[in-house]
Amino acid sequence: MFPSTPDRLSLALLPTPLQPLSSISRQLGSHRIWIKRDDLTEAVSTGNKIRKLEFIFAAAIANGCDTVITCGGLQSNHCRATAALGARLGLKIHLVLRGEPSADADGNLLLDKLFGAEISYYQEREYFANLSAIFDELVAEYAERGHKAWTVPTGASDGVGIWGYIHACEELRHNFKQAGIAPQHIVCASGSGGTQAGLTVGAVAHHLHAQVHGVAVCDDAQYFIDKVNEDIDEWQQRYGQWTLRKQLQISVFDDYIGPCYGEAGPEIYRTIEHVARTEGILLDPVYTGKAFYGMLKEVQKGTFGESGDIVFIHTGGSFGVFPHRNHFSG
Ligand SMILES: Cc1ncc(COP(=O)(O)O)c(C=O)c1O
Repeated sequence: MFPSTPDRLSLALLPTPLQPLSSISRQLGSHRIWIKRDDLTEAVSTGNKIRKLEFIFAAAIANGCDTVITCGGLQSNHCRATAALGARLGLKIHLVLRGEPSADADGNLLLDKLFGAEISYYQEREYFANLSAIFDELVAEYAERGHKAWTVPTGASDGVGIWGYIHACEELRHNFKQAGIAPQHIVCASGSGGTQAGLTVGAVAHHLHAQVHGVAVCDDAQYFIDKVNEDIDEWQQRYGQWTLRKQLQISVFDDYIGPCYGEAGPEIYRTIEHVARTEGILLDPVYTGKAFYGMLKEVQKGTFGESGDIVFIHTGGSFGVFPHRNHFSG
């Protein structure tokens, strides 16, 4: 038995289209690359996070919360999407950000401020050492002031958030049927693992007959295998055991992280420029640029066989391009 879907708010503009990347596919000469346009899920809360937050905000509201606390890097897409949705739903948003405050905020941080989120900044060392204590203190502070806060982990990746991409697989099944394709491979960027966890469960639950591959943008393959398993375990604890769990294969490519999270090598900026110029699609240097580059390299290595359809999940991130403006040649 598959666990039954919990309450969900309808916030994203769904279904998103699945489109062929004709020029890139022609250049590859072997596989047909398709792109699931989750960069079109909304204008300002765009990207993959809104799918997870549809379930998380529903749980927060059902639990009587009027405040949501979450965390991430200064340019977190997740924090920006949370801030935008909080403004839309009339919830107070408090962001715990890793990094220094700056007078000329750019990209996602500029938007966090525009959407009226309360922001606390922490230096990297303190952030990683004390994150859970920082959350506890904030929850207590809000309680003292008569507010009930719901906490959301990094990237909205937990047992609730993974419903977003479990559900997206039902949409993918319709996309594939409409396009008349049966892709054997689905590729996404993995930053906190929840998108990959949801897709991995959803692909089996919705009979996509495709292997999901995460391209790591920060930690190594073992980290993501453990994290995806952890999110799925938590999902089962909350919603019930699933007999097909044992069938899940978790695949992670970790050769494309580059210097570190948030920094990319010249090959990533070149890939972003190439995709922008040949397909009119905007990738970002932190997530989708690395994942797309990694997918092309794995195609060239023969990982996906000699031919066939491959689906790339465009998870958004476009506002993250602007703080990297100096790295682009054009
Ligand atoms: C644009 C974008 N793509 C991909 C990801 C990775 O998704 P996940 O955190 O679910 O692994 C994130 C967030 O981390 C993101 O902001």
